[in-house]
Amino acid sequence: MNAVAAELNTLLADYQVHYQKLRNYHWNVRGPLFFGLHVKFEELYTTAALRVDALAERVLALGGAPLSTLAGQLARARLVEDEGRPDAQGMVANTLADLEALNASLRAASAHAAGAGDDTTVNLLQPFIDEQEQTAWMLRAFLG
Ligand SMILES: [Fe+2]
Repeated sequence: MNAVAAELNTLLADYQVHYQKLRNYHWNVRGPLFFGLHVKFEELYTTAALRVDALAERVLALGGAPLSTLAGQLARARLVEDEGRPDAQGMVANTLADLEALNASLRAASAHAAGAGDDTTVNLLQPFIDEQEQTAWMLRAFLG
């Protein structure tokens, strides 16, 4: 498979783990911050699901095969699932760490795509980076 497509598949796998962690947090957040965070986590997992789809379809456009099973995605992902029960602040801190890791991975993938002359992939990834930079700032502000 095209090296850019392979890297996009790894990103896809990371976003699937990110998505499921956000669903976990949406369901299990407790305490006085519930109402705000329940909604915020839903907003973030909805965005993550759209990114999984966009990445899969770019892999296909590049002639590759998107990682389409949970087992395959978990085996490939660099992000790790949350087996614990963090409190609300911990959920936000973990989400921030995942977004920062995703942005580092997106920047690396974008640089490799640029090196391969794949401007379409560069253009696909840049809005993800831009939006996640803003979200990361907000989550840092939340954490104080
Ligand atoms: Fe819900």
